[in-house]
Amino acid sequence: MTTSLPRPGRVRPRRLRTTTAMRRLTAETRLHPAELVLPLFVREGLTEARPIASMPGVLQHTRDSLKGAVSDAAAAGLGGVMLFAIPEVRDAVGSQATAPDGILNLAIADAVAEAGDALVVQADLCLDEFTDHGHCGVLTPAGAVDNDATLVRYAEMALAQAAAGAHLVGLSGMMDGQVGVVRDALDDAGHDQVAVLAYAAKYASAFYGPFRDAVESQLEGDRRTYQMDPANRREAAREVAIDIAEGADVVMVKPAMSYLDVLADVAAVSTVPVSAYQVSGEYAMIEAAAAHGWIERERAILESVLSIRRAGADHVLTYFATELAAWLAEEKS
Ligand code: PBG
Repeated sequence: MTTSLPRPGRVRPRRLRTTTAMRRLTAETRLHPAELVLPLFVREGLTEARPIASMPGVLQHTRDSLKGAVSDAAAAGLGGVMLFAIPEVRDAVGSQATAPDGILNLAIADAVAEAGDALVVQADLCLDEFTDHGHCGVLTPAGAVDNDATLVRYAEMALAQAAAGAHLVGLSGMMDGQVGVVRDALDDAGHDQVAVLAYAAKYASAFYGPFRDAVESQLEGDRRTYQMDPANRREAAREVAIDIAEGADVVMVKPAMSYLDVLADVAAVSTVPVSAYQVSGEYAMIEAAAAHGWIERERAILESVLSIRRAGADHVLTYFATELAAWLAEEKS
């Protein structure tokens, strides 16, 4: 009796994996610099850019060095930059967020001057970098985050950012009604072309840890009364529906890697572009493991961003954006 090898039949999925060319042809998802957005930090009063210990490779920029980073981002063909700023003086209502010469507003103008129309210049619209208590809004006398009073500050902040030339404002505070209030304020002031990105499904995440170093956060406690509970999936669809109804031009899921299920859900129902934020802790995990030689850095970065796109994100905010774009350019040549 002759023994024959088992045969899988006619269907052999491995045929499509045989060569680089075959894999390239059949890849379902591709990365492109235009869909990458680079978050950047600028700190008031610095004379020299400063490293952030928990985010190796990421800097707190001076106004000058920020311009260099923006111009590199434009040269790399990125879709945009998202600006965060650290003021020298903080107070209860985050006054520097709305001061025309506040560091974030100055940085927006600098970035627009540097990049022209080559990048979508986006700004974080949230109070946490500007308040002395570190919360994303103003507080009631009892110390709770006051939703409706915060909306007034967000509207003022939107106007300051639009006046500075922001193309898009990123509402990351998770206050109820924030998109509608900001949209109305912008429209009433003639800024109807400034786009609103809603951090629609933003979770109260441990993965923001390094970011809080980056912005020297003074927060005590947590943001669980306004950011979403990591246990919740269905609620993301509710937040997205509300934000789109209020006029959001883009919705975001944040963090990204631990929320790919949420991202896939949102991508399936959203009528506007979907963004995802690979946050500071995701960045730090990859960098730390790579620094130990425990994972291959470049492959891990590519795979992580690819997975976020595969799950349904149209754009990805990632601290790897400029470097990643350079790799993508090399691949083509
Ligand atoms: C709020 C804001 C945060 C991040 C982006 N916008 C911090 C927070 O919600 O605590 C985190 C981004 C990151 O971790 O990379 N202004």
